[in-house]
Amino acid sequence: MPEKSRKILVSNALPYANGSIHMGHLVEYLQGNIWIRFQKLRGHQCTYICASDVHGTPVMLKAREMGLSPEDLTERVTAEFLRDFSDFGIEFDNYYTTHSPENEVLVGEIFETLRASGDIYTKTIEQAYDVQESMFLPDRFVRGTCPRCGTSDQYGDACENCGATYTPADLIDPISVLSGSTPVKRDSEHYFFRLSRYEQRLRDWMQSANLEKSVVAKLEEWFEAGLQDWDISRDAPYFGFRIPGTNDKYFYVWLDAPVGYAASFKNLCARRDDLDFDEYWRPGHETELYHFIGKDIMYFHTLFWPAVLQGAGFRTPTSVFAHGFLTVNGQKMSKSRGTFIKARTYLDHLHPAHLRYYYAAKLGPTIEDLDLNLDDFAARVNSDLVGKLVNIASRCAGFINKRFDGQLAAELHAPEMQARFAGAADAIADYYERREYSRAMRTVMALADEANRYIDEQKPWVMARDEQQLDTVQAVCTQGINLFRCLMIYLTPVIPGVAEDARSFLQEQDWHWDAAGTPLLGTTISPFRPLLTRVEPEQVRNMVEQSKQS
Ligand code: MSP
Ligand code: ZN
Repeated sequence: MPEKSRKILVSNALPYANGSIHMGHLVEYLQGNIWIRFQKLRGHQCTYICASDVHGTPVMLKAREMGLSPEDLTERVTAEFLRDFSDFGIEFDNYYTTHSPENEVLVGEIFETLRASGDIYTKTIEQAYDVQESMFLPDRFVRGTCPRCGTSDQYGDACENCGATYTPADLIDPISVLSGSTPVKRDSEHYFFRLSRYEQRLRDWMQSANLEKSVVAKLEEWFEAGLQDWDISRDAPYFGFRIPGTNDKYFYVWLDAPVGYAASFKNLCARRDDLDFDEYWRPGHETELYHFIGKDIMYFHTLFWPAVLQGAGFRTPTSVFAHGFLTVNGQKMSKSRGTFIKARTYLDHLHPAHLRYYYAAKLGPTIEDLDLNLDDFAARVNSDLVGKLVNIASRCAGFINKRFDGQLAAELHAPEMQARFAGAADAIADYYERREYSRAMRTVMALADEANRYIDEQKPWVMARDEQQLDTVQAVCTQGINLFRCLMIYLTPVIPGVAEDARSFLQEQDWHWDAAGTPLLGTTISPFRPLLTRVEPEQVRNMVEQSKQS
């Protein structure tokens, strides 16, 4: 039953433009990319947006250190991001920056609306200040001894040893990371957003947003602890948008970053007649809005963001999809172990489809962490993608190409089997929709096993020796190729490049999800070329070696 066409806007978290995309980030971007590709393949009207998150102290300081303006630094980094994304098959409908005129206008409008309704107030707070550098210090720029357990050299916001959270003022012997001097306490007026007023509205949103269980549990914890008002301003020097009516106050990066989703969309609307900003961002329309994020930024996306949107008269997200963190070989990514692997380093050694498939095979809808075990990665990709999937086609294509001039039979050899493969479409679609990618992959691979068993049983290579049986050889190989084609359509969201090569091998123009329901008969196919190579242990070793050096 074809679904009614939906209008869907999807975002991935906006990467900070002060580093490189690494394997951890790719969990985020591949999860979102697979989902959007799936929705597009189903024929829905989908828009996929992202941007570089460029504001804040770390970007400002890094640019200063490199002798660049923050604009120049973040433009360079963005260009690198775009090459990485594109080489991994991650193609946004718009990739923008948070330092844009659209964003500044939207943030200003949101701020004024919130202020007019009494949701913003100012309060003087005491903060760590570096006299030598003449600037207020973000928590992470102060280090000192944990007041609870006495571990030295801890950040100003939390202790890595005992997990205590505090403010820099609580640290024993605090030091400014910038100058090494002892910070002093200094007063400054800050702007606050009254998040505390929003508990009921956020609870209602939580109910309607159909959030995953583990996300709801987190929210309940936060409600339980009580919602604190949110400090949305920072003092100069700061790279960001200046707060209207002030000389030296800026919006905190986390206020304008999510607004960057809307600004990126707005920027796209200017070039696209078929997209209307209000239809996706104001209440009362049938459009859907989803944010893919990592579990570390849930507070911003499930509390601050929906509250700010509501208060400012915007629509709230239909849902927020959070994922867990990546570990490599069971541990946090580590430079010295060579497991802090950049996207580019991976691409220097391995095929993007390998990682896309491996992550899909491990991803579910929860915030559970996932592990990239490098041995398992090679074994899994080789066994599933090369050994099972591509093998179906390579076992059948040779006969069709050589014995039948590339022509497929006019009828299937095992129509009931074909019907079963086509009949799996709804269940697999449902898994994708619910971000149960690992289940989708398991279902596809179980079918691939069946297809291979079928070919093993039919033994076309034996029949091919007997002229009398050539029709059957053609029918069996046509059958095998159709089973392969069905599975390739299902895997298109995960391994789009391989699927495209498979489609062109089958000489088809276009694949829609429903194409799996109609077999390919009587047409001509191209000579078969291997669609994917094995992962060799040496490639993985070299990638790790290179990561140790960089
Ligand atoms: N700039 C913010 C997001 C702003 S959204 C309005 C940010 N940037 S980030 O570059 O640090 O992270 C981008 C995304 O990658 C986030 O969703 C984050 O959770 C995800 N990941 C970063 N490291 C990760 C892992 N090691 N594992 C899985 N996801 C990871 O946060
Ligand atoms: Zn401690």
